Amino acid sequence: MLPDQLKHCLNTFYDSGLPITVLTGAGVSAESGIPTFRGKEGYWQIGSTNYQPQEIGTFHMFRRQPEEVWKWYLFRRTVCHQSSPNAGHMAIVELEKIFGDRFTLITQNVDGLHLRAGNSLERSYLVHGTLEYVRCSKGCTRELFPFPDGIGDKSRETDLTEEEKRILTCPYCGDWTRPHILWFDEYYDEDYYRFESSMKQALETGLLITIGTSGATTLPVRVVEVVLSREVPLIDINIAPNVFGRSAEKSGNGFFLQGSSGTILPEIVQHISLRISDHPGT
Ligand code: APR
Repeated sequence: MLPDQLKHCLNTFYDSGLPITVLTGAGVSAESGIPTFRGKEGYWQIGSTNYQPQEIGTFHMFRRQPEEVWKWYLFRRTVCHQSSPNAGHMAIVELEKIFGDRFTLITQNVDGLHLRAGNSLERSYLVHGTLEYVRCSKGCTRELFPFPDGIGDKSRETDLTEEEKRILTCPYCGDWTRPHILWFDEYYDEDYYRFESSMKQALETGLLITIGTSGATTLPVRVVEVVLSREVPLIDINIAPNVFGRSAEKSGNGFFLQGSSGTILPEIVQHISLRISDHPGT
């Protein structure tokens, strides 16, 4: 059940005609069975050593152990492919349908579930990249290649075959390709990761909904800072108290909704849909 103040905020926002921005993190996909980054299943083992994503998801590690880094991503990609969008993803698709070109999704998730659920690539900024594309690890071209055919599902234990290693090379220079993912020791840019577009969105949006993110990476933190400095309402949805939820509550016109995205987002969509049917034409 949504609080009355939140319902009022959503009504006022809907009538305003202003843009809406939805910013998602790994928590949105948790109910699809994809482990979050900072949760307990995020690790990767090489030999007898456990690595956290912050160590394995780096260009530094890729340079030293390209095969191990690929194995980690191929395993993660397999988990993603075996998962399906959940009620939270579907509610975000409904928001795009309701708001049309007022809607923008900024997602840190590389799992492809938002697009598989039905959000459009046009209105989605994949600010940490996607597992669905690869590119030359040497940067001999800036071109993105769709993930190549011929690579099977991988468990944590499966090694790459010689054929798979060949498939994972750049068609131009023959060096390794790499996942099109923003690694922990790399920087955002506009061309690959829509950094400036996201900041522009923060400057223009009339409502920001952050969902299932621990607020540990730069771009979401910057977006939230800009939105709060403009006194625009922030709604944070998370199963656990977190930095964005606290900021929302402190701001005076924001909300922290503690609970799962798959439960709370459909309630928000239902409320907005009811508002539209009660006030057609507004
Ligand atoms: N509904 C809502 N929130 C949830 C749910 C759920 N069902 N399950 C988990 N959460 C919340 C957790 O409480 C946590 O705050 O989702 C958040 C997940 O946090 P992280 O694992 O840190 O994921 P994220 O914020 O997306 O990480 C950001 O860091 O690891 C890098 O590039 C990677 O995109 C990732 C980025």
